[in-house]
Amino acid sequence: MSETFSAKTLFDLSGRTIIVTGGAVGIGKVYSRALGEVGANVVIADITDNEGGALAAEIEEAGGSALYVSTDVSDMAACRALAEKALQTYGAIDGLVNNAAMYAVIPKRDDWTTIPEDEWDRLMAVNLKGIFNCCKACFPAMKKQGHGKIVNISSSTWLTGTTGRLHYTTSKAGVVGFTRSISHDLGKDGICVNAVCPGLTKSETIGAIMPEEHWRRREKKMAETAAIPRLQKPEDLVGTILFLLSSASDYVTGQTIACEGGSNHL
Ligand SMILES: NC(=O)c1ccc[n+]([C@@H]2O[C@H](COP(=O)([O-])OP(=O)(O)OC[C@H]3O[C@@H](n4cnc5c(N)ncnc54)[C@H](O)[C@@H]3O)[C@@H](O)[C@H]2O)c1
Repeated sequence: MSETFSAKTLFDLSGRTIIVTGGAVGIGKVYSRALGEVGANVVIADITDNEGGALAAEIEEAGGSALYVSTDVSDMAACRALAEKALQTYGAIDGLVNNAAMYAVIPKRDDWTTIPEDEWDRLMAVNLKGIFNCCKACFPAMKKQGHGKIVNISSSTWLTGTTGRLHYTTSKAGVVGFTRSISHDLGKDGICVNAVCPGLTKSETIGAIMPEEHWRRREKKMAETAAIPRLQKPEDLVGTILFLLSSASDYVTGQTIACEGGSNHL
């Protein structure tokens, strides 16, 4: 082991400034809370202002540090303003979790030809261009610092495909290609970019939308076929996200990690 190396602080995220897009509700809220708990400066970027403000206040009351910035990730100017606000407030941008997406708001359609063209375009603008925008906005600060961690949220559906949400699945496959490609552009600047694929997760949003009968069927399927035979919870994703934001993953980039309990093995 080299004299300067120490394993003690590899997982330490205290004092690191991390932006979480879509960080005010659903699974993103769980990431924001967890980051607050481990002492990071959490920058919550979302379009849900009431929930975002309340969550930042909750994290602060619990002894953490958080800021809510109203941000539509499909808007480049808004993403630049987000990066600027994070820098002004905390002086650095150490990590970016590109979690914002149109998911719970997208209806499942039996007939893919009925997906309206404007819905396709809007979804791509949020789920894919939103990631490009946020990376572009945070890149100058990360390059100047000589380090940065970007975690892009894909979905396990990108590999298997799924019916009913063709545009959503296509966008999540795009996230994997984007991650792989941009990791080559950013590695020399000390910036790591990885993707995480959750399986179907009972978040507060998607949990409320899908009928209980659906969740019972899913639970049964997981019990019969998944390596870890139970439903996925948002908390199951937190460890993987924290690892990819920490120094423990400094030599990991361009990778796509499926965090889905082995549900797509068959
Ligand atoms: N829940 C699941 O089963 C599941 C499975 C695989 C992947 N995912 C992915 O995990 C992430 C979170 O999922 P979720 O279940 O919490 O879904 P969700 O739809 O509840 O969360 C999406 C978040 O993005 C925000 N958002 C939407 N449009 C935005 C915009 N234009 N600008 C900024 N923020 C915007 C929403 O307000 C919300 O906070 C998404 O990327 C989703 O695709 C979820």
